[in-house]
Amino acid sequence: MTTKRLNRFACLLGVGLLMAATIFAGNALAEGLLPTDCIKCHDKQPKDIASNGLSHKTEISCVDCHEAHRPSSPNNIPQCNKCHEGTAHFDLTGCLNCHNNPHTPKVISIDKDLTEPCLTCHTDQMAQLQQYESSHTRVACSTCHRERHPFIPDCLHCHSPHKEGMDMKVCLTCHKPHMPLEVTYPAETPSEYCAACHDDVYSTLKASKFKHGKFECAKCHQDKHKTIPRCQDCHGENPHPPAMHEKFPQCGQCHGIAHDLNK
Ligand code: HEC
Ligand code: HEC
Ligand code: HEC
Ligand code: HEC
Ligand code: HEC
Ligand code: HEC
Ligand code: HEC
Ligand code: HEC
Ligand code: HEC
Ligand code: HEC
Ligand code: HEC
Ligand code: HEC
Repeated sequence: MTTKRLNRFACLLGVGLLMAATIFAGNALAEGLLPTDCIKCHDKQPKDIASNGLSHKTEISCVDCHEAHRPSSPNNIPQCNKCHEGTAHFDLTGCLNCHNNPHTPKVISIDKDLTEPCLTCHTDQMAQLQQYESSHTRVACSTCHRERHPFIPDCLHCHSPHKEGMDMKVCLTCHKPHMPLEVTYPAETPSEYCAACHDDVYSTLKASKFKHGKFECAKCHQDKHKTIPRCQDCHGENPHPPAMHEKFPQCGQCHGIAHDLNK
């Protein structure tokens, strides 16, 4: 026998003797062990419970879950549904996949591909992912929300920015993570963000001496990407005498383009 096995044997013998002693003493607990005994041989679990046991510390004790002990009962691990049942969440299988340590029930780590179990509590995000199909729809929730609950990933873990210096806060002005292709943005979005892809337009506009040159792109191209405004949206249907508009129906025939009216 190795020392380790010998120790284990000695310990189990200890449990046997301890139990025999308490049963002999007429203890009400069938198995004889009290919660205060556990710490004599197990130090990790009592420590975990003491520091982070939450309701598993305050509402119940070791022996509500571990009703028996070796050697008389080698299988004293409880099923969670012994005490938790009646909701969709409690019908899940593999509770310990997320609640990996029952002694710290709310320290939740996520190290597998998971989507379905998340939906027992979060439905809005899935609704968006499905309504607005994108590459993000095809990965598991835990591809992004990984390691622990609740973890928020940084876009830049997986993507490079359109332009150096853009951080995640900037990404979120135009993209929503659960519908990334629905690009929308507020009216005060800085033109520099657009310039990352529309450098030519940006330079033209900035060089223009006309009043449009001072506007942010988003003032005209409002809200949703690729929206094109009509000049008349801002200047009214007939800024000039009707005869003039009849002869030259396009504003551009005299004013050129919005980004540089002179051209
Ligand atoms: C005298 C020492 C001793 C005491 C007191 C003791 N245990 Fe154990 N316990 C052991 C040993 C030894 C093992 C076997 C460890 C192994 O196989 O690695 C064990 C195993 C376990 C296991 C693992 C399940 C299994 O069957 O392998 C649980 C759960 C457990 N004990 C809970 C408790 C609880 C709860 C208490 C207090 C009510 C307690 N123990 C008190 C020595 C003790
Ligand atoms: C809410 C129920 C619950 C409570 C309360 C609880 N345990 Fe456990 N315990 C479990 C479950 C479930 C496992 C099996 C964990 C696994 O398989 O990963 C376990 C495992 C163990 C083990 C085996 C080694 C391990 O960590 O997997 C020991 C020893 C143990 N518990 C001791 C204790 C002691 C001592 C207490 C009280 C301080 C206690 N437990 C309180 C549910 C509980
Ligand atoms: C012996 C009964 C019992 C068992 C077995 C049990 N629990 Fe609990 N658990 C409770 C009670 C009582 C509460 C507090 C009331 C509630 O939230 O239902 C609780 C609360 C919790 C909480 C919330 C903690 C808090 O304080 O907010 C989580 C998470 C949890 N349990 C997970 C589990 C998991 C996972 C298992 C299986 C490994 C498990 N429980 C096994 C009795 C138990
Ligand atoms: C996909 C991971 C995952 C799985 C699988 C899972 N849980 Fe949870 N559970 C969570 C998360 C996340 C929370 C919320 C924690 C919070 O409020 O911070 C939670 C909360 C809880 C709570 C406390 C809140 C409540 O609704 O009462 C209990 C109890 C619980 N789970 C028990 C279980 C049981 C029992 C199982 C297995 C039948 C299980 N969980 C399976 C992730 C999971
Ligand atoms: C039992 C219910 C439950 C389950 C299951 C659950 N969550 Fe949660 N989740 C919550 C609660 C409650 C909160 C808010 C409290 C908090 O921050 O801990 C939350 C918060 C979050 C947040 C952060 C919200 C914020 O604004 O910071 C994310 C992200 C999240 N959950 C993702 C997930 C993912 C991914 C899964 C599946 C692996 C999951 N959740 C499973 C209940 C749950
Ligand atoms: C491509 C990565 C990615 C995927 C896949 C993903 N999320 Fe998220 N999620 C995020 C990011 C990033 C945020 C933070 C958004 C913010 O801060 O405004 C977030 C925020 C959340 C929040 C906080 C509330 C909210 O809506 O902002 C919850 C809850 C959440 N996600 C759940 C889920 C669930 C459930 C799934 C799977 C159905 C999922 N997520 C899939 C990246 C992702
Ligand atoms: C865990 C990795 C991960 C995170 C975090 C992540 N993405 Fe993605 N995203 C992907 C993958 C994988 C694809 C598909 C391949 C590609 O286009 O790079 C994708 C595609 C996209 C697309 C194109 C969608 C399509 O269907 O073509 C956009 C837009 C996008 N992501 C924006 C974001 C933004 C914004 C964030 C932060 C809120 C973010 N992503 C966070 C992994 C991630
Ligand atoms: C000013 C708005 C805006 C900002 C800010 C922005 N994006 Fe985009 N992004 C877009 C537009 C518009 C597209 C789609 C272009 C198209 O239709 O092809 C796009 C496309 C993408 C794509 C798809 C692949 C590609 O490169 O075309 C990814 C991935 C992406 N963005 C990630 C990000 C990340 C990460 C950030 C933050 C660093 C970010 N975006 C910031 C507007 C923005
Ligand atoms: C990630 C790169 C990217 C960013 C950032 C971006 N765009 Fe675009 N944009 C594109 C692409 C690609 C097209 C399509 C070009 C084409 O069809 O020739 C486009 C097209 C457009 C169009 C023309 C649509 C049409 O019908 O011709 C407008 C207007 C536009 N973008 C405005 C903006 C504004 C305003 C911003 C800033 C809020 C912005 N874009 C940010 C990539 C981007
Ligand atoms: C005063 C309003 C206004 C401003 C400011 C403005 N645009 Fe435009 N934009 C228009 C109009 C109107 C059109 C349609 C073509 C035309 O009539 O000039 C257009 C067309 C476009 C097009 C498609 C045609 C082309 O020239 O490629 C893109 C892309 C575009 N704008 C991007 C931008 C970007 C990026 C900015 C900021 C740097 C910006 N716009 C600022 C009004 C504006
Ligand atoms: C989002 C609203 C908006 C759109 C769309 C728009 N404009 Fe303007 N435009 C303005 C504003 C505001 C001014 C400045 C008015 C002032 O200060 O008196 C202006 C000024 C002008 C001026 C005077 C230039 C100057 O520097 O004095 C002309 C000419 C003009 N716009 C033509 C056009 C034409 C042509 C289009 C379409 C191609 C157009 N605008 C689209 C809002 C807009
Ligand atoms: C036949 C050529 C022509 C056409 C077509 C035309 N304009 Fe003009 N517009 C002018 C001239 C010339 C001026 C300068 C007149 C002045 O300084 O009073 C002008 C001035 C303007 C001004 C500036 C007015 C001010 O008070 O500073 C606006 C705004 C304007 N036009 C908008 C439009 C819009 C919108 C359209 C299309 C619906 C349009 N124009 C069509 C020739 C034209």
